[in-house]
Amino acid sequence: MIKTTIGIIGGCGQVGQKAVRYLIDETSHNILLGGRNTPDDSMKKQAQGRSSFMPVDIFQDKSLSAFCDECDILINCAGPSAVVGDRVAMAALKHNIHYVDPGGHNPIYHSLTAHNEEMKKKGLISVLAVGILPGLSELFPIHEANRSFDTILNMEYSYIGRDRWTHNSAYDIAWGVGNIGKGEASIIYEQGKLKEVNLFTSGKTVQLPPPLGKRKLFPVFREELRDFVESRSIKNARVYGNNWGAWVSLATIAVRLLHWHGTQRQLHQSADLIVKAARRDLQDKMPGFMLHLTMQGTKNGQPMSLASTLYFEDTYRATGICAAIAARMIAEGNIPAGRHWASQIPNTEAFMNLFQQQKYTIIRKQDPDSTSPVKKAAI
Ligand SMILES: NC(=O)c1ccc[n+]([C@@H]2O[C@H](COP(=O)([O-])OP(=O)(O)OC[C@H]3O[C@@H](n4cnc5c(N)ncnc54)[C@H](OP(=O)(O)O)[C@@H]3O)[C@@H](O)[C@H]2O)c1
Repeated sequence: MIKTTIGIIGGCGQVGQKAVRYLIDETSHNILLGGRNTPDDSMKKQAQGRSSFMPVDIFQDKSLSAFCDECDILINCAGPSAVVGDRVAMAALKHNIHYVDPGGHNPIYHSLTAHNEEMKKKGLISVLAVGILPGLSELFPIHEANRSFDTILNMEYSYIGRDRWTHNSAYDIAWGVGNIGKGEASIIYEQGKLKEVNLFTSGKTVQLPPPLGKRKLFPVFREELRDFVESRSIKNARVYGNNWGAWVSLATIAVRLLHWHGTQRQLHQSADLIVKAARRDLQDKMPGFMLHLTMQGTKNGQPMSLASTLYFEDTYRATGICAAIAARMIAEGNIPAGRHWASQIPNTEAFMNLFQQQKYTIIRKQDPDSTSPVKKAAI
């Protein structure tokens, strides 16, 4: 393996420090932490002398450029990604280094599309939206589909989570809620046809495995998953999501209905509201994030149905690990040149195996028996 330098801007933040931990434990690459402030002693101890620090402010061109000069791969964990936009991705491109982004700002993908051919010629790789939501939220159903099905007729998929969101993460949640309709839409697929539905009136009460139980979720379909559904010709597909916790749910409904997302000032105020709401939701409770998928179709010519669940409590650790795995796969030559959503990594199995090695377990109820009423209805 060629030793590379992986730079992590925001390496002392909630997501960044978990990415750093993974890279220290699981790789032998050089690690360069970046941020505006010097890491505190606990962070230095965590990095165990395996990493160095270089001050960087991503909003200052010279500083960002000097940091890029030191890296082969750059992970950007500084946010909010809706404010950062494509600034760091473009700096990485200019410096001919690979780029990884756990943030969920869809427009970066589209601005890199204009450079995709150039990136392929230069052998440059960008992996975007590679956290848990987005990121794992797309990789998980694709991985489950690939391993268990030849054809898929029906898919219903739910995700829900809670944590003590930082201002940066909350800002991006507010931006995401405000931008439903652009990149993430309230749509469903019915009999092979895409239908727009109302975000609020098309909500559904879904029975999820413990500890979630019955939850009211709302239809949200990210564009990466639409690509997947269309490429696999899935006839009926519904994706539902929500925050787990009454206060954050209420806060996001208010942000959406009252349009508190039009300006940066409003988004900062909405982020403050979400941070407070998340603290209330988390009083005496653990964080948690669940992905729950049901699919019906065929495998080897036989009917197949699957219920698959991934649940964990350490949402920031899982997010940082996803970004770090993408950087590791780039360093190991396992991702082709070009710009990709996490969902477009060709080797989803390798990604998910590395993820599961970090003590994350997928619970599956797989049923190849054609007498099941579920499958009779599906086939
Ligand atoms: N996809 C997912 O599932 C997911 C989940 C959670 C978070 N995220 C995304 O991950 C990003 C980070 O979130 P977080 O919760 O980890 O935030 P955080 O804890 O506030 O960390 C942000 C880090 O970025 C650094 N930073 C901030 N502004 C900077 C600047 N101008 N230049 C250089 N460094 C800067 C900060 O350090 P200094 O203050 O010292 O500069 C800090 O270390 C956000 O964009 C968030 O949306 C994605």
